Parts: sequence; structure tokens; C-alpha cells
Amino acid sequence: MERTFVMIKPDGVGRGLIGECLRRFERRGLKVVALKMQRLSVEQAHRQYGEHRDKPFFEPLVAFITSGPSVLLVLEGRDAVAQARKMNGATNCIEAEAGTIRGDLGLSNRKNLVHASDSAATAAREIALYFNDDEVIDYTLPYEDWLQ
Ligand code: CMP
Repeated sequence: MERTFVMIKPDGVGRGLIGECLRRFERRGLKVVALKMQRLSVEQAHRQYGEHRDKPFFEPLVAFITSGPSVLLVLEGRDAVAQARKMNGATNCIEAEAGTIRGDLGLSNRKNLVHASDSAATAAREIALYFNDDEVIDYTLPYEDWLQ
């Protein structure tokens, strides 16, 4: 089983789409093993998006991601990293396929509702940015055998 980090961004929270996003991930078979709501600090935003530091959209991105609360999640399941990326869809909502969160619910390149780690190594780094080890919970769902 793999773990990934997913964030429902301030536009997702502000538009009342927390439940919609969680419903999709849970129905797919990804298990929520950590969850918290937090407004990212500018420092956290810089750490989250450091690789984009030199891009023209960096400062507006930091302003957006710190503009309101986000929901931070650790999801666990088979191929969790790839599953969550697929479910989110392409970064630019205009290009995202119908059936994905961004393709169904978003219109923007920046305000694209959700984030998911792009690799297992990134997931480990991003999970550690927001969660202590004891905040990520080990537990078993009764139907888990069906998801192996
Ligand atoms: P995310 O998947 O969280 O990773 C980086 C984020 O930067 C991305 O989602 C968007 O919110 C934002 N982003 C990426 N490219 C652009 C762009 N060209 N213009 C504005 N924002 C962008």
C-alpha cells in the first residue's frame, strides 16, 4: 500500500467542495489516514511550491494558496500517488478530462481545487511538511481485502 499527500485548496474549501472531493477519493478506494484543516503560512507555501520559485506565477500562487484554509489529507491505497493524480486531472482545468475533479469542477490554471504529490518521494516530503508521525493513523477498513 502506498501513501500520498492531497490538498483541497482554498477555492475547493471556499466553494463547498470538501465533501465532493473526499467522496470521490473514498469511493475510488483510497483510505483517509490523516486529515486536517489549516491555512498555509507563506513559509509553508514557499516550502510546498519551492520548485516553482522562479516561475512568473509563483507569487500569485503563494497569495492564492495562503488566502484561506485548505484541507490536508494523507490517502493510502494501491498506487495511491498515481490514482490521486489521475483523479485530480491535468493542472489546467481547461485541459483536464471530464470525470476528473478539475475537469468536472474547475475552470482555472491556478485555482485548480486540488493538489496531489507527483511521486512517492514527493509524497513522503509533503506528508512530513504537514503531519507528525502520530497524526497519520494505521487502521483497517472492514472491506479492505477487496481493494488489495
Ligand atoms: P499544483 O498541482 O498544486 O502544483 C503547482 C501549482 O501551481 C498548480 O497546481 C497550480 O495551482 C499552479 N500553477 C501551475 N501552473 C500555473 C500557471 N501557468 N499559472 C498559474 N498557476 C499555475
